[in-house]
Order: sequence, then structure tokens, then C-alpha cells
Amino acid sequence: MPTFVKFIFKKYVVGYYSTKIDFLYIIYLSYKLPVMIRTKIAGIGMYVPENVVTNNDLLKYMDTSDEWIQERTGIKERRYADRTGETTTTMGVEAAKIAIERAGLTNSDIDFIVFATICPDYYFPGCGVLLQRAMQMKDIGALDVRNQCSGFIYALSVADQFIKTGMYKNILLVASEKHSFGLDFSTRGRNISVIFGDGAGAVVLQPIEDTDNGILSTHLHSDGNNAEILAMYNPGTHANHWMNGQKLADFDDAGVGEMFMSHAMIDNAQNFPNMDGPAVFKVAVEKFPEVILEALNTNGYKTSDLRLLIPHQANLRISQFIQKKLRLSDEQVYNNIQQYGNTTAASIPIALCEAWEKGMIKDGDLVCLAAFGSGFTWASALLRW
Ligand code: COA
Repeated sequence: MPTFVKFIFKKYVVGYYSTKIDFLYIIYLSYKLPVMIRTKIAGIGMYVPENVVTNNDLLKYMDTSDEWIQERTGIKERRYADRTGETTTTMGVEAAKIAIERAGLTNSDIDFIVFATICPDYYFPGCGVLLQRAMQMKDIGALDVRNQCSGFIYALSVADQFIKTGMYKNILLVASEKHSFGLDFSTRGRNISVIFGDGAGAVVLQPIEDTDNGILSTHLHSDGNNAEILAMYNPGTHANHWMNGQKLADFDDAGVGEMFMSHAMIDNAQNFPNMDGPAVFKVAVEKFPEVILEALNTNGYKTSDLRLLIPHQANLRISQFIQKKLRLSDEQVYNNIQQYGNTTAASIPIALCEAWEKGMIKDGDLVCLAAFGSGFTWASALLRW
């Protein structure tokens, strides 16, 4: 065949059909390839106890003032659970009922429970099984997550992996805290006790066959070097091992036992949480923006693309610092610490639920969740609603 005929044949005949074949092959592949599964929030709920405790109410127990608390933390009031009528689990159940109903499901549809808290009803077993019992669910798995203020995002990340791999279809994720039971309400504990409040949030997570919606990514971090500066040491098995001889607990004089929890610990007020507030503040304002930008950069977004940032409600001053550093508008950051205080793992789902109920989050909105807390642990999640 003459060269020019070969040329014409290749250019116009082979070229034409290969383009067609490529095109058809792409169509074939798009049907054949597995669809990308993401996790969506199908239902959300929150519960806070009825009992409102204002800053002035705390004056009964400690030397503090409404002015000091508002100026340093932004908190005006918080809720405390009923002393004996409510527990971390029962508050979680109330939030879960709403989330399940909003997802259009019943309790028997749930195929896995994740429960995040640092105020468990029992040291063991965890709240997950108590919730499973209280809600009369099937004998499904119940996982307890202990990641303090980052607990909700850590739990969300775990649930996200279970959904994406196809293992579960309807995961109930609950975060609940009853801090009011374990704080030091004397002046000695005022730097911590004024900050924390009780409450619960819950979400139902389901798979969605869509590459653009749902949880886009989660980012988890930890640095144990500062574990002791925001911690509750006792009861525990540490036996004063970690702090180069510095005593975190006094133990009773016993050959066996009585070290996990001793009379001396209670007599010496070692059974309360400890916090070096200024040191926590310093690292929080560094890690929050870092992990928010990590989530945005991973997905190719800018801060201006964000509809709403829901930061863990640690302290209003911390949220304001993040907002300023990331140049976000007032409309792009949701805070409700003024009403509820810091509810640790529950703070993000409570804030997310409230913002959604107020119509501040609509379908298609880009939402970032971010947390920092004891451990230290910090985390973020980017999702398209
Ligand atoms: N009421 C009145 N005075 C109080 C008080 C209270 N509730 N708590 C502490 N104080 C006093 C202190 O005793 C101290 O008095 P002194 O100067 O006479 O010694 C003074 O206020 C300043 O204490 P300091 O701890 O340095 O205050 P601060 O300006 O750092 O504010 C926090 C304290 C806790 C509000 C602040 O450090 C903070 O928010 N840190 C981050 C904590 C956080 O976010 N934790 C949760 C992480 S998830």
C-alpha cells in the first residue's frame, strides 16, 4: 500500500474509530467500576438537661464572678443533668431517639453503635452497651470511644470507615457527657468547673453513592507529651509512674489492691480533673487552624468556600482566635458555648444540630468540624451536607 494511503487510513479511519472506542470504553467503565461510597449524616439530634445553671448560681459554691467567667470563656450558663434521674447514657438515648426518627428509621434498623464520652456511667462496661439495652436494640456491636474533646470526630472517623467498606448501613453515633457529677465545686477547682456543662448529641450515619456529598475526609492527630496538663489522673493504674517522681496520687498502705482508688486520693482531693488553662490555650490556638486547613487543603478548598465551621466549644476566646486567624466571617462560625459551656465530646454534635435546626446548614453546604482537647488530641472532618 502506498505510504500516503497508509497515512490517510491511520489518520482518518483508525483515528476515528479509536476515538469512538475510547469513548465507548469510558461509558462501559463508568457502569462497570464500583461507585464511590461516602458516609452521610441521615439524622441528627441533641438533648440538654432542663436545669440551667448561670454563672451567678456558681457563686454559692466558689469564689468566682459572672464577669470573670464571661470575659475569659464567653460562657453565660450551662446545663446540669438531674442528679439521680439522668446519666450520660440516658441523655445520649434522648439525643439518639431524635436522630433515629429524623433518619426515618426505628431502633431495630441500627446495625452498630459508637458512643463517645469521658463521663461514663460505669468505669466498665462502657455506655454503648447501656444504650443498646435502654433502646432495646438488637445484639449489635457497641464501641466506646475515649478521645475527650476530639471524641466526636474520632468516633465519626471510625464510623465513616465502617460505612465506606460496606460493613454497616445504619450506624448510631452518640456523644454525651455528665460533667456535673465529677467536678470540684470548691474555689480550688474553679478554673475547670466553671467551664464544663452536660449534654448529648447524636447522628445516624448511612452510605451514599455520591462522590461529592457526605464526609469528604477526616484528619486525626495526637501528641502525648502533654498528657498530664489536661487530665483526670485518678482513679487509674499509673502508680505515679509517668512524672519522674511527682505524685499524682497518694495511696493507702496496702500490700495488694487499694491503689486504683484509695481513701487518701479522696481525702487529698486527687479525684478531680486538672488543667493548666494557659498552656492548653496556647496549643489549641495553634492546632485548631492547622487541622482545619489540613481538611480544606486535602479537598482543594479555601476558607472562603466554607459555609460553616463548627469548632469544638472549648472557649469562646479560642473560637474567636481561630475565626480571626482564618479570616472567617461571623456567619461562617457557629458558637453556642455561651448557653451550654464546654460539653467535651458532645459539643460538636450539639452545635451542628442547633445550626441545622436554625436553617444555617442547607443541602450542598460545605461544613468543617474541628476539635482540640486533652491528650493532646486534635481532629477535623470536612463534609458536604
Ligand atoms: N473565677 C475567678 N477567678 C479565677 C477563676 C474563676 N472561675 N479561675 C481561675 N481564676 C483566677 C486564678 O486563680 C488566677 O488568679 P491569680 O492571678 O490570683 O493567681 C487568675 O484567675 C488567672 O488564672 P489563669 O488560669 O491564668 O486564667 P486565664 O486567663 O488563663 O483563664 C482559662 C483561664 C481556663 C479560662 C483559660 O486559660 C482557658 O480557657 N484555657 C483553655 C482551656 C480549655 O479550653 N480547656 C478545654 C480544652 S478542650
